[in-house]
Amino acid sequence: MIKKGIILAGGLGSRMSPLTKAVNKQLLPLFDKPLIFYPLSILMLAGIKNILIIVNKGQLNQFRKILPEKNNLGIRIEYKEQSKPTGLPEAFTIGEKFIGKDSVSLILGDNFFYGQSLTKILKKNISFKKGAKIFLHPVKNPNNYGVAHLNNKNKVVSLVEKPKKTKSNLAVTGLYFFDNKVVEFSKRLKPSKRGELEIIDLLNIYRKRNILSADLIGRGGAWLDTGNVKDYYNASNFISAIENRQGLKIACLEEISYKNNWINKQDIKKSILFYGNCDYSKYLKSLIN
Ligand code: DAU
Repeated sequence: MIKKGIILAGGLGSRMSPLTKAVNKQLLPLFDKPLIFYPLSILMLAGIKNILIIVNKGQLNQFRKILPEKNNLGIRIEYKEQSKPTGLPEAFTIGEKFIGKDSVSLILGDNFFYGQSLTKILKKNISFKKGAKIFLHPVKNPNNYGVAHLNNKNKVVSLVEKPKKTKSNLAVTGLYFFDNKVVEFSKRLKPSKRGELEIIDLLNIYRKRNILSADLIGRGGAWLDTGNVKDYYNASNFISAIENRQGLKIACLEEISYKNNWINKQDIKKSILFYGNCDYSKYLKSLIN
């Protein structure tokens, strides 16, 4: 059972500059909430309450303002800094103490997931014990991502980071489940040609040992890119369209906690005071009235 989750929320955000020159990308608004609320909501939907957020050196106080360690969300948040964005697997060496002897989930701070099938997929996989698990989603432009090839038994036979050419349209999304070996395996990695430790190299260690499995987030689910400004606004419009139609919020953290029975009405009232007079607070009020 996975009880711990890491959100990797550093990075240079260079593809979104100048927006990200002064503010970390994960704190920019994705429609009506900071981007980081969305990956955090996914961990919470999976039932994970113990969370490590890894941020760039010097940016900790920015994050603390919106997600303080002492929060009203019924979850445990701790922070660590990454001195330079030298690759996703660094999450596991920076997070070694946090992980301890447990399994862990990693979610990239800029990944947006949505869909009814998603919670089911998360709940189905959360009891996982050994190996590593990835979640694949079909995309039009697989060469921008890690790409997985499956054989006819749905077994992963190859994994490549941003291949120039590929026959597979299955991108590796930024949500991963790992057993405790991940810390040891991460320490073995060497930087790639682009000078980074690669998550695909880490996953390939698991694949070669036959302990990597994959689940598909099919076309009924959405995994949207927030990599460049155009995609970012498309994702923002998607959220706006759904929220305006349904009158329900995507990634309202208090709502997820309340439904999980992690917080009560009093905690929600504290959150309303914390956020102040805004649309998000009005939504919180509607949850408890
Ligand atoms: O989004 C899924 C893709 O994420 C996967 O398909 C790829 O296999 C994986 O390598 C990764 O690709 P990206 O090129 O999109 O990763 P990027 O460098 O943009 O970083 C993703 C997030 O992680 C972003 O929010 C910044 C953060 N990050 C990144 C690095 C390299 C860190 O916090 N520290 C880092 O060292």
